[in-house]
Amino acid sequence: MIDLGRFAPPGGPEAVLLGEIDPSRLPRHVAIIMDGNGRWARQRRLPRVAGHRAGIDAVRETVEVSARLGLEVLTLYAFSQENWKRPRAEVEFLMNLLKEFVRKEVRTLDENDIRFGVIGRVADLSAAVRAELDQALRATKDNRGLLFQVALSYGGRAEIVDACRALIRAGVAPDEVTEETIGAHLYTAGLPEPDLLIRTSGEMRVSNFLLWQIAYAELWVTPTLWPDFRTPDLLRALVDFQRRERRYGGLGALPDGTERVGASRT
Ligand code: FPP
Repeated sequence: MIDLGRFAPPGGPEAVLLGEIDPSRLPRHVAIIMDGNGRWARQRRLPRVAGHRAGIDAVRETVEVSARLGLEVLTLYAFSQENWKRPRAEVEFLMNLLKEFVRKEVRTLDENDIRFGVIGRVADLSAAVRAELDQALRATKDNRGLLFQVALSYGGRAEIVDACRALIRAGVAPDEVTEETIGAHLYTAGLPEPDLLIRTSGEMRVSNFLLWQIAYAELWVTPTLWPDFRTPDLLRALVDFQRRERRYGGLGALPDGTERVGASRT
């Protein structure tokens, strides 16, 4: 029985949704494209950065609920390589918000056995941001619960480029370049691939996020803007995920439970 504590009070809509979830068939890895902060702010006639600040509450709740659900990995797309093109003041605001979040939350993460992680071209970040991230990485490195990782200065194509460079540097022969050796040189080496990719604010795009790893992920898009994303949204995504049939190119299970093979990939 999953206990979400204050996030699912008895008799509330969250508890009802939770009752529909089979704890034995949860996704191992959930990845989220957090989108819509700017629109959330515009709807309230606030500056864009107010949307980013409000998005922190959604991050906090999503991390805590994911840990309580017993997910293995949660990856949040916090800052893409393309985001460097935004006005300098907005980039600075986002970096400061990240530093503040990490500094304030590291203790709570640690107390909840959550391991913090970062993927992306971390070298692009300022020394001050890197120092804050390193501190959180070190403080939580031995934790065994949820791995909560943020994608920073991240691009899916850049990640594949980095993996190719690493393979060449390691002297891997052409015949040894396989899906496995490439996977082993990605930022996510050793982790399960995302089973579920959530995107907020309604856009039907993958935006250069985990391109290699989402090959078989289920996509779930909600019109909810990121700052409004809360426990019921995450639970709804999980309920829908469990209703879908994942075939990995097969034809799904036969009535006797055996797997059919031979169809093209879907
Ligand atoms: C997309 O909204 C959101 C971002 C580019 C940044 C997301 C960052 C946070 C929620 C805060 C920091 C994160 C962590 C993990 C501490 P948008 O600005 O593209 O919105 P719009 O599409 O409505 O303009």
